Amino acid sequence: MSLDVHKIRNDFPILSQEVYKKPLVYFDNGATTQKPQIVIDEEIKVYSQENSNIHRGVHYLSEQLTQRYEDARKTVQSFINAEHNHEIVFTSGTTEAINLVAFSFGEQYVAEGDEIIVSTMEHHANIVPWQMLCDRKKAKLKIIPINDKGELLIDEYKKLISDKTKIVAVNHVSNVLGTVNDIKQIIDIAHKYDIPVLIDGAQSIQHEKVDVKEYDCDFFVFSGHKLYGPTGIGVLYGKEKWLNSIPPYKTGGEMIKKVSFEKTTFNELPFKFEAGTPNYTSAIGLAAAINYIDNIGLDNIALYEKELLDYATQKLGSIKGLNIIGTADNKVSVFSFDLENIHHYDAGMIIDKMGIAVRTGHHCAEPLMNRFNVEGTIRASFSFYNTKEEIDKLYDAILTVQQMFA
Ligand code: ALA
Repeated sequence: MSLDVHKIRNDFPILSQEVYKKPLVYFDNGATTQKPQIVIDEEIKVYSQENSNIHRGVHYLSEQLTQRYEDARKTVQSFINAEHNHEIVFTSGTTEAINLVAFSFGEQYVAEGDEIIVSTMEHHANIVPWQMLCDRKKAKLKIIPINDKGELLIDEYKKLISDKTKIVAVNHVSNVLGTVNDIKQIIDIAHKYDIPVLIDGAQSIQHEKVDVKEYDCDFFVFSGHKLYGPTGIGVLYGKEKWLNSIPPYKTGGEMIKKVSFEKTTFNELPFKFEAGTPNYTSAIGLAAAINYIDNIGLDNIALYEKELLDYATQKLGSIKGLNIIGTADNKVSVFSFDLENIHHYDAGMIIDKMGIAVRTGHHCAEPLMNRFNVEGTIRASFSFYNTKEEIDKLYDAILTVQQMFA
């Protein structure tokens, strides 16, 4: 093991608390990750020493904080290896970033009869904005199917592409199955036909090194709060040529160059897409989270999390009556399952009373639930601050649930 998990846990104040008089076991990292003290301190510092509206003032505080915000943008740029810092747009999260692209790209490039490709394993945030676009434009949504392990069927994907396809939008990692999609292959196939690709990185950014130049993706989106950063901040990466060619999504202050009652012209990138007062506090907090993660090293994180996933798969997978949902060859540390003859919600409630936070339900992926013919699953999603001892506790908790329902 190349990281010291017990030392790392001390960085996260929330992890040392008890719930129901039991030590908290936090296995809901797919929903949101906990925050290291260094991120919390950074936000406190902004509000207690630096607060001022950015980009507008000529006074000291405003200039200093504007610099800090723009430095945060550069931190994100280098973290995902974007070519230009103006290709990084701060949004409120993944959801807003996808809505932005679906709206602005859709306005510019999608017309009646066109087609948009998504996959069966998308989160609702990467389905509904495209569905609404299709409704507005009378376009068609096409769906890449998956196999029983939870892997995309690439041959079927190839067959969906036509001269009407305007964009492909798929996730990098499934929030339910943990499947890591071969996005390089998906992008290469689309690019053969000059079709741009949006990658939803909400569930990959915290698990493995992302390199938008290497993938050659056209858009990449993620949320800060799933990357040990603050809530309310997210990132849209877009290639300069696309961001320059699509209209703004939100309008108002800061995104304009010149306004008159006759005509408004728009600001340059990235400000064209950042109307209103930006969430500078969280952007700066996100940069602190990225620095923290970089110090530990995503390679170390990925190795350790793989160890946790393998342990869970072997130990929890040995429980009779437990069915693992999502058995892709390439997976991150997301472990979804159901228990025969026990409703996932009942199981989740009992597991919770043992101090273990798991997620139950459809995980905002109802079409995927339909594919697996389940109403919902129980999902334990592991982070590098979790331990095998905690997985042992989940094992005991599942046995207790089964005994209660026997
Ligand atoms: N999208 C988040 C999840 O998968 C909330 O839990």
